[in-house]
Amino acid sequence: MFKGVLFDLDGILTDTAEYHYRAWKKLGQEIGIPIDRKFNEQLKGVSRNDSLKLLLEKADRVGEYNSERLQELATCKNNYYLEMIKNIGPEDVYPGILTLLKELKGHGIKVSLASASKNGPLLLGLLKLNSFFDGIADPEKIAFGKPKPDIFLLAAKNINVRAEECIGIEDAIAGVQAIQSSGAMPIGVGKTSELGDKLNIVPTTEKLTYDYLVSKWEDLFKVV
Ligand code: BG6
Ligand code: MG
Repeated sequence: MFKGVLFDLDGILTDTAEYHYRAWKKLGQEIGIPIDRKFNEQLKGVSRNDSLKLLLEKADRVGEYNSERLQELATCKNNYYLEMIKNIGPEDVYPGILTLLKELKGHGIKVSLASASKNGPLLLGLLKLNSFFDGIADPEKIAFGKPKPDIFLLAAKNINVRAEECIGIEDAIAGVQAIQSSGAMPIGVGKTSELGDKLNIVPTTEKLTYDYLVSKWEDLFKVV
């Protein structure tokens, strides 16, 4: 049986993926780089600084900004984001997540956060989910962000289990790739067209039940 579950945050525990998108869109509008939801798929799971780079690269404007100005832009996006999430509360936890976390706890399965977001601890607090997390991987402590496996490896390490003994849950292609190269078993929330066809995918978090996780884990070891 799996011993740990490594959770992405934005778009898995709650709808903050939408606010990241709106905040980048607002910043993009201000500096004359419009973005749409299709482009935003590339930003999901990607760190703040790397997202800014992708935004500027889109318009071939990376060279226009020195490091101080880049920092200002990243802070500006984060301030928009913080303003948008300030009223988030436990009622905003996605359907099925609280039940799943309770069941995992009840079965003695360790739970760890594997989010690229530096706002992860703030959000766990707002959502009142702190007590369900045995570990939080600090994105400041890793060399490479998603799609590299580092954040999932650190999240597993923080709960003293090997990544191979974990399930990772993600809504972003970069995150799915990170789970796959960490050795954990990925479960995607979303669509095959966005996440690929090499993993189990549920359309919404409601379907992420404990029994579902167990059955997919058992499938891995089934001899056919
Ligand atoms: C990821 C989000 O979880 O965190 C990205 O999917 C975001 O959209 C990244 O850019 C970094 O978040 P933050 O809160 O540190 O800017
Ligand atoms: Mg996400």
